[in-house]
Amino acid sequence: MATKKPGPDAGLPRPGSETPDFSDSEFAAMRREKPDPDEKVHPLPWFFIMFLGAMGMWGAFYIVATPSGESSAYGDQRTVSLLRPPVPNDGAAPAVDGKQLYGAKCAACHQASGLGVAGVFPPLAGAEWVVGSEKVLISILLHGVQGELVVKGNTYKGVMPAFGTLADEEIAAVLTYIRSDWGNQAPAVTPAAVKAQREATKDQTGPYDGGAALKALAP
Ligand code: HEC
Repeated sequence: MATKKPGPDAGLPRPGSETPDFSDSEFAAMRREKPDPDEKVHPLPWFFIMFLGAMGMWGAFYIVATPSGESSAYGDQRTVSLLRPPVPNDGAAPAVDGKQLYGAKCAACHQASGLGVAGVFPPLAGAEWVVGSEKVLISILLHGVQGELVVKGNTYKGVMPAFGTLADEEIAAVLTYIRSDWGNQAPAVTPAAVKAQREATKDQTGPYDGGAALKALAP
């Protein structure tokens, strides 16, 4: 207490006095003050750190141990075939949706109703070519028709495009469909039959020249 410590402003003249004059009482206020508190570090409890470590290890183990790719046992168990819409067919028909194919490839001309457009596109509903010889029908699709064609008593002279680029299964499906809708009742067409007819008519390079050429196909 008795030792005089120099204050922060030691040596400087105080206002109103010529000589510096410090007394103990001036430092008493400083001594009274408590020291600044230390910032205390509170370490995480050891068991909490162990717990975090265990969680991390479990996570890594789970990722490594969970099978990915080869098995869907831990996730959505639906397969692609389950997500496909049901395919209407009568047994012999393949797993191609003939009605859908008809809508995409044929309905623009022959109409969804199968009635065609009078004078331009012949009807498929009740048409003799549709419910008649399977071989002729397949050939119409494979190579197309151009020329005079009589359908249900009306003569058409248009262009039926070839659909030979479709797969056997697709031709079989669309033909099976047109043979069974709109009141038509003819047996299904199999992909094997399409394949055989494709082979039998492989020398045909262009469209058939109307009904006469078609009739020649089915003796
Ligand atoms: C661009 C229009 C067009 C498209 C598309 C078309 N057709 Fe045709 N189709 C015709 C025309 C025109 C004729 C008549 C040809 C003629 O006059 O020589 C015909 C004739 C036919 C015939 C024989 C005549 C009859 O009415 O029975 C069948 C069967 C047939 N088409 C089925 C189909 C099928 C199946 C598809 C779809 C895969 C299809 N067509 C797509 C225009 C079309």
